[in-house]
Amino acid sequence: MNDAIRDAAAAGSPGLSYRPDPPDTHPDPRCPDYRSTALRYPSQSLVLLPQRMTEITGPLMGPGRVTSTDNDLTAQHTGEPIGQRIIVFGRLLDADGRPLPDSLIEIWQANAGGRYRHSTDRWPSPLDPNFTGAGRTLTDAQGRYQFTTIKPGAYPWRNHDNAWRPAHIHFSVFGRAFTQRLVTQMYFPDDPLFGQDPIFNSVPEAARTRLISRFSLAHTRPEWAQAFEFDIVLRGRDATPFEEPHHD
Ligand SMILES: [Fe+2]
Repeated sequence: MNDAIRDAAAAGSPGLSYRPDPPDTHPDPRCPDYRSTALRYPSQSLVLLPQRMTEITGPLMGPGRVTSTDNDLTAQHTGEPIGQRIIVFGRLLDADGRPLPDSLIEIWQANAGGRYRHSTDRWPSPLDPNFTGAGRTLTDAQGRYQFTTIKPGAYPWRNHDNAWRPAHIHFSVFGRAFTQRLVTQMYFPDDPLFGQDPIFNSVPEAARTRLISRFSLAHTRPEWAQAFEFDIVLRGRDATPFEEPHHD
């Protein structure tokens, strides 16, 4: 928390009356081993902007914006994508463990071969014509969400010698307005690439396990798909590490 935000919090600004996350929760943006982030993080203290009507009221995530098939990344084309079909599920919770309903969760990921459908991803792994790699859903009344997708592959990214990203799924969580957005990554258990990944290791060690999903046999559907559970906690002792600390 920078000085401006701390001062605003002390003055009782609306929206800042929360318990700050414990230290060693979120990654330090100054991460020299993650080379390409050097020009992305702010070099100066953030400026606190007051929330006005635009930030508070719109655009709204009303019913009908998200369709019932948006959370099934295996059903967005005429055929099924290649790869291990999986179910990713969990809950969105606040610091006190209360569920957060009606919140937009979006994901994006590489295909089973580790390639994104993106113009700048040109490494020689094939695209899958039946996989876009993006999905979205709203949490239900109990804060639950679920996606059906395929397990993403690892991919090389030239950050350092022989650099490979562990398999991961990117997550975005929106609050009540577009100015309230949190971004993180979910990993899979026991990935042998954890030790050499500076993005995963930019997260304080004690918090890294919160980014690793848990295999769930109970939610695994026989002869269909393995299940992985990933709860997202917005703040507090069990807060999910996010790519930028949040102050609202
Ligand atoms: Fe990625």
